[in-house]
Amino acid sequence: MQVETSSSKYGVKHYPDGIREWKKEGNYFSFYTSETTLEVRVIADKIIRFRYAAEGTFQRDFSYATSDTLEESPISFGIKEWEETFEIYTDALKVFIARDNLRLTITDTEGHVINQDEMGYHWQHYLLKGGKIQYCSKLIQEGERFYGLGDKPTELNLRGKRLENYGTDAYGFQKDTDPLYRNIPFYYGLHHGKGYGIFFDNTFRTIFDFGKERADVCSFWARGGEMNYYFIYGPELLDVARAYTTITGTPELPPLWALGYHQCRWSYYPDSRVREIAKEFRKRKIPCDVIYLDIDYMDGFRCFTWNKEWFPDPAGLIRDLAADGFKVVVIIDPGIKVDPEYAVYQEGLKNNYFCKRADGALMEGDVWPGKCVFPDFTNPVVRDWWSSLFKSLAEIGVRGVWNDMNEPAVFEMGTFPEDVRHDYDGEEVSHRKAHNIYGHLMSKATAAGMKKYLMPHRSFLITRSCYSGAQRWSSVWTGDNVSSWEHLWLASVQCQRLSVSGISFTGSDIGGFIGEPDGELFTRWIQLAVFHPLMRTHSASNETGFNQEPWSFGPEYEKVVTKFINLRYQLIPYSYSTFWQYATYGTPMLRPLAFVAQDDEATHNLTHEFMFGDNLLISHVSEKGMTEKKVYLPAGKWYYFWGDNLVTGKQEVTVKTPLDEMPLFVKAGAVLPQYPEMQYTQQVAITEMLLHVYYGEDVVRSILYEDAGDHYGYKNGQYNIIRFKQRSDKQQFYLKKQCFINYETAYSNYRIVLHGLPFAATTLLIDGKSTPLGKPAADGTISFVVPRNFELIQIVKS
Ligand code: GLC
Repeated sequence: MQVETSSSKYGVKHYPDGIREWKKEGNYFSFYTSETTLEVRVIADKIIRFRYAAEGTFQRDFSYATSDTLEESPISFGIKEWEETFEIYTDALKVFIARDNLRLTITDTEGHVINQDEMGYHWQHYLLKGGKIQYCSKLIQEGERFYGLGDKPTELNLRGKRLENYGTDAYGFQKDTDPLYRNIPFYYGLHHGKGYGIFFDNTFRTIFDFGKERADVCSFWARGGEMNYYFIYGPELLDVARAYTTITGTPELPPLWALGYHQCRWSYYPDSRVREIAKEFRKRKIPCDVIYLDIDYMDGFRCFTWNKEWFPDPAGLIRDLAADGFKVVVIIDPGIKVDPEYAVYQEGLKNNYFCKRADGALMEGDVWPGKCVFPDFTNPVVRDWWSSLFKSLAEIGVRGVWNDMNEPAVFEMGTFPEDVRHDYDGEEVSHRKAHNIYGHLMSKATAAGMKKYLMPHRSFLITRSCYSGAQRWSSVWTGDNVSSWEHLWLASVQCQRLSVSGISFTGSDIGGFIGEPDGELFTRWIQLAVFHPLMRTHSASNETGFNQEPWSFGPEYEKVVTKFINLRYQLIPYSYSTFWQYATYGTPMLRPLAFVAQDDEATHNLTHEFMFGDNLLISHVSEKGMTEKKVYLPAGKWYYFWGDNLVTGKQEVTVKTPLDEMPLFVKAGAVLPQYPEMQYTQQVAITEMLLHVYYGEDVVRSILYEDAGDHYGYKNGQYNIIRFKQRSDKQQFYLKKQCFINYETAYSNYRIVLHGLPFAATTLLIDGKSTPLGKPAADGTISFVVPRNFELIQIVKS
């Protein structure tokens, strides 16, 4: 053992000394020093897990983050002994472990250093609180950039910043407020064109320093628990994202309606007001699928009750709204009102389900209902009970739940004191260990309950707080933001960051939660949110009476907002297919440009642009009065969505930004499936599927995924995957299709609208058979109908 001589208020730091012994068992290796043991587990050829037992004894190997279905699949691996190091190798990586001090150097197979320990693992007694602080420090490589960490409201590249995870009710947060609501201890490094990720699976308060304290050192630590991290090699950042999402789990497919437009407010009440809002959407022909009930639907904010005066017949209300194509989502908070007359309180109290302080007293604190107690969601018995409470909501037709205040938030204290006790699935821990997974497990229990009682329907959940892996059961929103232009930018950065942190199903409160946007800000926010997987307007205007609906800012804005919500609905086949890619492969739905063009340094710090799925590049308008905007396009060719002009990438272009347009580009070669206009998802049967096809000369693949949009039939193979590949040239347009078809759709033809054909042609070949091709339309596109079962379409220059 080596001990640092200078002590700090935390006690001396302990560094591992030389390796005395080692052993291999299956796919893991153990290295023993006089004090510390390192376990290296080869999970896959690009995923290695490192665990350190400070004083030789490992803690229980247990995680709330990792997916039950994670398979360990190292293809081939082994160990070599060198004079100064041990080398564990796989087909993709070499991990060198220094015999003297356990320090790691990880290289690719060609010997390029991907990640290297500075002091590596070390620890320190936490004198003030007990336990150990677990540290790891790494050298920052030349030109290294850092990404990830969930919802941090700051630049995408985290180099030079120090950030922490300790779920916080950050009402009215600002740029750089830290910590926020979510706890995602996962980051990416990118240097020399190669990307990797580190997932530090530890639920204590975790801190990450990306060269803030020392410019060339990246370190991370936790105030307890174990140093336990997964190293994931890319080199493609998107592959790192996929692997991280495989480790922490992919979601099920959401009901299709959840990809529609959501309208929320704190609060719509009484029921007549809810009906009025719904009616207004239909009257004005503004598409909408979801209406939310915030806390005022309850009786004195008692969860699982209804205010009898304002909502005398919730089932009737929900039924009528459903008949008009609306789904209802209700809020449920963790605070249970202390009220001896209230069944949920009585039951929880009787069964000992609520959290207690160290001295055995109930953990009591004020939230909306006044004095509350809080279920211990870290106890599996309590989670089952909580799940069972959703029966009554599901039975009256509620289709989705909104979990809020689950950091957990407590009015005066902020959150629970650290002495509060938790079960932690049988481990009995203090709040220091359970804080960061409290909301995570609340949402897990909620999702389980809703799923059970809504069967055979799919349900929908949105949560404010969570830990890594919550994407398996919930969506998230970015929390209590503000109606300001800076927050519009923050919403974009936060959603991109959440998306590459495993949580793609995300959005912000459109227009801002606190304050009042003007029509321009609201409109520009709607435009951005069309391309966020979750599109929800929400505001806290309950006291001011300010309205934040699509029609609240006058006809000029309403027209543009309607145009964009319509676009949202037209793009649903594309966004659903993008969701399927996420649910199947873990591919983030929103991709910062650094993640799609990592070899191009010009993309590394871009924050106001991103890809939504494979083929759409979005650069939202982020300033008041902006009439034009500079947009950086990565390599390749891009069509401007609103005019079809073809632009060559790897350069910055200037785009005019009238209120009813925003910079939006389609990758040349793409196939964009689209729905016709509709007022809510599945309102109309799709009798002809529209495919916008953009002529392109590079190989570009596109996907259309289809299923019932509800139910779980897709899990038994009832779905279609249609894969398009375009590879045209100056003489010929060429579109190939391959598919797996096992779900019956109402259509049997595609209507193809071809953009950008660079030559004149008179014939179309469908699987080799020629038919005449009509003349181009005024906008230059050529439109034709082909049977759904085509395999190859060609158009040859005449
Ligand atoms: C919290 C939520 C907000 C909600 C309010 C009332 O502030 O973040 O979205 O409207 O509580 O429930």
